[in-house]
Amino acid sequence: MCGIIGYAGSRNAAPLLLQGLRRLEYRGYDSAGVATLTCEGIAHRRAVGKLVNLEALLEKEPLLGTVGIGHNRWATHGKPTVENAHPHTSCNGRVAVVHNGTIENYIELRKELEAEGCTFSSETDTEVVAHLVERALRTGVPSLEDAVAASLTHLRGAYALAIISAEHPGEIVAARLSSALFIGFGAEGVMLSSDEVGFNGSASEVLALEDGEVATLCADGSRRLRGVSAEDMQARITPPSVSLDDIDKGGYPHLMLKEIDEQPDAIRNVLRGRLGTNSIKLGGVEAIKGRLADSRRIYMVACGTSYHAALFGKRLIEGLVRIPVEVALASEFFHEDVLVDKRDSVIGVSQSGSTFDTLRAIELAKKRKALTFGITNRVGSELAQLTGAGIYLHVGPECAVASTKAFTGQATAFALLALRLAYERGYMQDIQPLIRGLAMLPKWVEQALRTRAQIQSIVASISKAQRAIFIGRGYGVPLALEGALKLKEVAYIDAHGYAAGELKHGPLALVEEGTPVVAVALRSKVHTAMLANMEEAKARGAHVIALATQGDYEVPCVADECIELPDIPEELMAIVGAIPLQLLAYEWGVAKGLDVDQPRNLAKSVTVG
Ligand code: AGP
Repeated sequence: MCGIIGYAGSRNAAPLLLQGLRRLEYRGYDSAGVATLTCEGIAHRRAVGKLVNLEALLEKEPLLGTVGIGHNRWATHGKPTVENAHPHTSCNGRVAVVHNGTIENYIELRKELEAEGCTFSSETDTEVVAHLVERALRTGVPSLEDAVAASLTHLRGAYALAIISAEHPGEIVAARLSSALFIGFGAEGVMLSSDEVGFNGSASEVLALEDGEVATLCADGSRRLRGVSAEDMQARITPPSVSLDDIDKGGYPHLMLKEIDEQPDAIRNVLRGRLGTNSIKLGGVEAIKGRLADSRRIYMVACGTSYHAALFGKRLIEGLVRIPVEVALASEFFHEDVLVDKRDSVIGVSQSGSTFDTLRAIELAKKRKALTFGITNRVGSELAQLTGAGIYLHVGPECAVASTKAFTGQATAFALLALRLAYERGYMQDIQPLIRGLAMLPKWVEQALRTRAQIQSIVASISKAQRAIFIGRGYGVPLALEGALKLKEVAYIDAHGYAAGELKHGPLALVEEGTPVVAVALRSKVHTAMLANMEEAKARGAHVIALATQGDYEVPCVADECIELPDIPEELMAIVGAIPLQLLAYEWGVAKGLDVDQPRNLAKSVTVG
């Protein structure tokens, strides 16, 4: 979704802004723009479509200036047009604004400003901010920071903002409310980005803005946080959590493949310092473990792939900890009838930690006084700030739109959490084999990655199919749903995931001669039932591709093709079984010549509702 970038320093800003925007491309966008402060005022360039268009425009009409802001826009209010692309300027063209988030009361503000004589040139909610700041400056407010602070009092909604003014050359003012914004300090100036990735490796120190804060960044290197002492500001500065290695393709043809391949190490990082030989240590859980383990009920709220990881977490926690768990799509968990109250705990699961619906669901849970907990990959993200307790994945930045290593990271984090809570409730003896299994996970995932060549040949044989069905039982259900989602988003195949028992209650009608049916048939307590479901599909002409446990002699008798995986405890099935399904989607997308890293219509972080 939208991405913000800013630079104030001694170098020409436009090329640096463009580099930052390139790094933010992975989030998804449909137009882009930059504005700089020049000796004649503010100049800006905007273009629809990919960044190459903006780049070409900047080559034809270069921008000078050492202070500037930039933006990748993912359209919400108004179509992706040049007029709607950010930066937006005020009537006199002397204030420019870029914005992530949504200004909820923009219609009423727009009417008020129009009545005062303002002319609007876009359909966006953002433009009101430029006019408000210009109005504040006109009333004689002495600084841009004061003008921005005064303007913010009129806004309702969520925002990360970066603002420049020709009346105050040499500075950018930034503000945040419920939308991430980071300041990066480097040798050649100070930067601003809605995602650390945007610093492009050139920040040696980083400061995450907090909700309600306003910052001023100056080209001469000075910086201040409104209402925060220089010492307190200094104390919050940290080393960057993202390096260039993390975000480069590193020799891979696609980021998605790199992230799939990174999973053994990613899982090692989730486990590091947490998995003992006989115990689990989870720093973020210690203070609240009693309340969590004594919850009347645990709700989990998440979207997309994170929702599938939560479904896996539900099975683990219900199975090992014996607490009822409800998993809700975060977008459905906001209405008055949700039964959550102070006896419950609510776990928000989000790779980015900035998914709008997940954040709103957690806010509701907080209002109802439930214990809130976050499982996220992004340190300091909105989810982490909102929940105050939780587990970081530490799988490294995930830049391909399709989530891969975050899913297995989340599933691993759930396994740790379930074991920790099981220990808390005194079920430790039962879980020794799982502790040993977790220690083996990276090796098993390495083995699963070796199925790639086989998957390439499977794809070659089925790539003409338009539809695919994924089925699983028990711990295999979240995997079937996730396998289908991955194939849909990366290869644009009409893919459906089902609990296998549901097949004959409707979906079987979709099966015709040659329809690929991917069956999660790893050894488990529901193995026999799973075999029967595969037979049902086969009898209707399906081409059955099974995930099977090495040495299983029954699955090969039914399936047309078997992808063999190591013999793993069924509770960890989702983690190892995810690998061939991710590879299937990747290889199929590549075979179709699609942009697997940035599938059409999708964005990496969905920061609007
Ligand atoms: C997964 O491949 C997705 N692109 C998408 O479903 C994603 O998982 C979802 O938008 C939730 O994102 P989050 O984990 O950052 O909250």
